[in-house]
Amino acid sequence: MIGRLFFTLMLASAASSACAAESDPAAGKAVFQQTCENCHAAVIGVNKVGPSLWNVVGRKPGAVPDFAYSDAMKANKEAWTPTALDAYLADPRGDVHGVKMFFKGLANPADRANVIAYLQTLK
Ligand code: HEC
Repeated sequence: MIGRLFFTLMLASAASSACAAESDPAAGKAVFQQTCENCHAAVIGVNKVGPSLWNVVGRKPGAVPDFAYSDAMKANKEAWTPTALDAYLADPRGDVHGVKMFFKGLANPADRANVIAYLQTLK
């Protein structure tokens, strides 16, 4: 009986930690404002040091018409799926060699998931 109760509690806590791993666009917006916004605008047509990230999720890399991308980014053909963004944001210059995004990356997987969830709202 005690054993079964314990097992049930374990299941319940596994379920709640799975929930906590779900991404949160509001938290992602805060990460964006702290770490990306110096270089990237969230609105269409505004390029800063980096290209506008409006509608970036799902599109081809290097697709903002009037932004001067590096050759490395122009040669990157893998669409910006959440998985590709996660790998890129973990280590921008390791993932796409020669890329000119001088940013060390987001080490925390939850920050990456949240910021990607936020990017998905930009459309
Ligand atoms: C120091 C400035 C800087 C910071 C900080 C920065 N970026 Fe960038 N980002 C760039 C530049 C410059 C490029 C263009 C890279 C190239 O052409 O090689 C870029 C490119 C990108 C691209 C590819 C865009 C496309 O159109 O293909 C994505 C996605 C991106 N950044 C996301 C982010 C996110 C999310 C953050 C914050 C977690 C961030 N960046 C932080 C400068 C920055």
